[in-house]
Amino acid sequence: DMNTFVNQLMGQMTLEEKIGQLNLVSVGFDVTGPIVSKNVEEKIQKGLVGGVFNTFTPVAVRKLQQMAVEKTRLKIPLLFGYDVIHGHRTIFPIPLGLSASWDLQAIERSARIAGDEASADGLNWVYSPMVDISRDPRWGRIAESAGEDPFYGARVAEAMVRGYQGNDLTLANTVMACVKHFALYGAAQAGRDYHTVDMSERTMRQEYLVPYKAAIDAGSGSVMSSFNDINGIPAAANQWLLTDVLRKQWGFTGLVATDYTALNELVPHGIAADEKEAAELALKAGNDMDMVGEVFLNNLPQLVKEGKVTESQINDACKRVLEAKFKLGLFDDPYRYVDNQRASQTLMKKEYRDAARDIARRSMVLLKNTNNALPLKKTGSIALVGPLAKSQRDMIGNWSGAGDWKKAVSVEQGIRNAVGNSVKINYAKGANITDDEVLVKRLNAHGGDLDIDTRSSEQMIQEAVDVAKGSDVVVAVVGESQGMTGEAASRAELNIPGKQLDLLKALKQTGKPLVIVLMSGRPLAISWEDENADAILETWFAGTEAGNAIADVLFGAYNPSGKITATFPREVGQVPIYYSMKNTGRPYGGEMLDKYKSRYLDVPNDPLYPFGFGLSYTTFEYSEPKLNSSEISTSDKLTVTCTVTNKGSVDGEEVVQLYVRDISGSVTRPVKELKGFQKILLKAGESRDVTFTLTNSDLSFYRKDMSFGSEPGKFTVFVGGNSRDVKHADFNLK
Ligand code: IFM
Repeated sequence: DMNTFVNQLMGQMTLEEKIGQLNLVSVGFDVTGPIVSKNVEEKIQKGLVGGVFNTFTPVAVRKLQQMAVEKTRLKIPLLFGYDVIHGHRTIFPIPLGLSASWDLQAIERSARIAGDEASADGLNWVYSPMVDISRDPRWGRIAESAGEDPFYGARVAEAMVRGYQGNDLTLANTVMACVKHFALYGAAQAGRDYHTVDMSERTMRQEYLVPYKAAIDAGSGSVMSSFNDINGIPAAANQWLLTDVLRKQWGFTGLVATDYTALNELVPHGIAADEKEAAELALKAGNDMDMVGEVFLNNLPQLVKEGKVTESQINDACKRVLEAKFKLGLFDDPYRYVDNQRASQTLMKKEYRDAARDIARRSMVLLKNTNNALPLKKTGSIALVGPLAKSQRDMIGNWSGAGDWKKAVSVEQGIRNAVGNSVKINYAKGANITDDEVLVKRLNAHGGDLDIDTRSSEQMIQEAVDVAKGSDVVVAVVGESQGMTGEAASRAELNIPGKQLDLLKALKQTGKPLVIVLMSGRPLAISWEDENADAILETWFAGTEAGNAIADVLFGAYNPSGKITATFPREVGQVPIYYSMKNTGRPYGGEMLDKYKSRYLDVPNDPLYPFGFGLSYTTFEYSEPKLNSSEISTSDKLTVTCTVTNKGSVDGEEVVQLYVRDISGSVTRPVKELKGFQKILLKAGESRDVTFTLTNSDLSFYRKDMSFGSEPGKFTVFVGGNSRDVKHADFNLK
């Protein structure tokens, strides 16, 4: 068995070989930090490397694996990791988009396909799912998250882990998941990447830690510790977090890897005087593998000599690395994931591209639709305008390292595929995404493909206006460039960047119907757009099949069903804004002259689009929710039933959402908490009863004494199609 095997192997290992297993190196491209691993091949052959990332393909992986198993004394195979975030070769929507589908089967399928492709491409370990809750759209990495909600984030986390790992990690087509970034990375102050987190333990346990725990309970084989400070102790040095919570309280037995150079960064954090101290702190905290920085490799031997670290502490870490390799079946066959034939049969096969198209259209959110602007007719002419209309690079989004954007379908191409010659398409770029040359240089240096049109913005806008005047309808494809989202891409403004708003205003002046196809990696503050456009379709960065999927929605081949999983503010100054806020002692009820209330002078409290919001080409009507009882005890089940009716003339899917409010507790409780959802398809005119069951655990929370449980008293349960427009019923817990 695993234990015997690993113990026997470790019995033969020198201290140096054990420390080598803790070293995780990058082969040098896709750099996301200031340091690059050096002399990787030499180190592999000396047994000083436990795992490699940033390389793939059967050929490249075989070469390095061969070095490990043929050139080293103990022939220990390497782990091969990679940032497979929203697809490997076939790219799906960015995670924030995937989450907006509220379709757990689709999300799991995307991870299964990614796992199949990654493993066919030599990889056995993916740095996903990213489950950091984020309530701050300024943070660039909100794009990689499932949004703001712990309950929903937990369901997505489980689905992703199941998708990657399947039921059997030893199979050649499954890969080990790595839940990240542990922990609270999404709560960085002011949305600035790598920034400080200071949070009460109650908020951690009640909200932010929930999805990590769910991923671990779903069996995630590994965890990545995060960059950020947590209440004064950076996560990578945080023994309470990595050992007490993760291992002792949650029972996690898998592998913990650091993030990129996170151990070196303990010095600038100011928690370690030098890298030697960083190594000591980090090992004792509970990290097993050190990503890129070689802080373990360079310092652990000396620390053992000095008696500051024991060999048995190193054994614990080494054991977990070897166990991960054992679980993946690498000791049986180090080339299990290296199969040229499987690669050529699997990567980007048609079935996977078809799935990417279907999943992409499920992720899109119709934010506005008036005057029947959408769906578009397949006749007449369209002014196709905007800097993202022809982009291929942006379609696959950020963190799509193995994705080939040249194979991505642009919006223009997707529309042409949908309409053939039946619609005349008149194109104008209209504006650059940004006119900031330094920013463009920076984005292009990190995988961007932006060109700046050097014509004046007046000239570009005029061209677009002329095109609009000669067409029946304007489709403006605007938003952020993919590189303005993701890691190290925080923004202090949440507008559509550059001159794009000027472009939209000029297009509005033409009086033609204005349809905005919006691309972004975060909620944007788009009040003008909401007031003035006829329709807005949020498409995120929708992946390899983006253009086809967008055309499916624009022309009604697919009726949009996505709902946002992160609140869209009216103004950046409302951030953090999320649906599950506390009521305060002076809640503002909307009375204009009320002064001493929790409110702003200049902007309303409520968001532009609430959590869970998204429209359809049909409309749904909700009955009042019915409860099986108005009083329950802690051992009872409460059933909540609501009749949902499709009132329109087309079939459509609806995400029926259930929220709970505990009216009074030993600590203050949020005004609403999501506790259930069901995505259902209703035919035109169809009605269906949707039933949810709540148990005591759904009513439980971290009470005044930090014990987890419910408290008797009054509750309200809400059902609706988003977190704002709900119907409610009350009950009492005995
Ligand atoms: O997995 C990533 C992480 O999300 C951010 N830093 C680099 C890691 C490896 O590329």
